[in-house]
Amino acid sequence: SGYWVLVPAAGIGKRMGADRPKQYLPLLGRPLLSLTLRNILTWPGVAGVVVALSDDDTYFEHLPEAGHPQVHRVTGGAERADSVLAALNFLATREAGDTPVLVHDAARPCVALEDIEALLDDDVSPSALLALPASDTVKQSRVEGGRSVVDSTLSRDSVWLAQTPQRAPLALLHSCLRRGLERGEPVTDEASALELSGHRPQLVPGRRDNLKITHPTDILLAETILRLRYAATED
Ligand code: CTP
Ligand code: MG
Repeated sequence: SGYWVLVPAAGIGKRMGADRPKQYLPLLGRPLLSLTLRNILTWPGVAGVVVALSDDDTYFEHLPEAGHPQVHRVTGGAERADSVLAALNFLATREAGDTPVLVHDAARPCVALEDIEALLDDDVSPSALLALPASDTVKQSRVEGGRSVVDSTLSRDSVWLAQTPQRAPLALLHSCLRRGLERGEPVTDEASALELSGHRPQLVPGRRDNLKITHPTDILLAETILRLRYAATED
């Protein structure tokens, strides 16, 4: 019973441009990945966590969560989808195919428990993801004479920005991800793997504070969000 959480954490954080992979940069004095794992371990019903790490990772073993009995590690791959596949391969040898799996980016330490509860709600489809309705107007572009120009304006009502966690039954996600990678299709998130096999994951409205730490300013935003949340829970 319960569900598993897979955490891709094998990226290099190129856009962050720091001296180490961004998942090990400090936020409020703690490594980002440590905060994310600590958050996940408070979610009700978590059966276990699988973290996918780079094969030359020298940081993970120093995190307090590295020795947690529910935290397992695997070696990730060149792309995020390869890292998620490695975690699914690990899980498929020990859990039933209908086990619910949540994939959650190491770089999203601020997801709130309310969002997790919304995603796991009985009325939500077994294949679903947190996503944010677009607030900015979204332009489709094309290149003309070396410049990007507007090709069209997308209808904002139908545009959502994908977040994580994204959920699916273990065997379904495993087969769709394998198929997508074998076909050489771009698989940038779990939902896209399911879509390529004809499934229609449900969009569950998420919140702006579940940001992905990508650029240096995101660290300042996340620290503010976490500080406000800790202050609220101490009252
Ligand atoms: N990730 C992974 N394996 C990869 C690439 C990414 O496990 N080969 C993970 C990252 O560690 C991160 C999550 O997937 O937790 C989301 O990816 P992203 O935010 O793009 O992180 P990076 O790829 O590290 O950053 P960048 O794209 O700027 O290099
Ligand atoms: Mg990346």
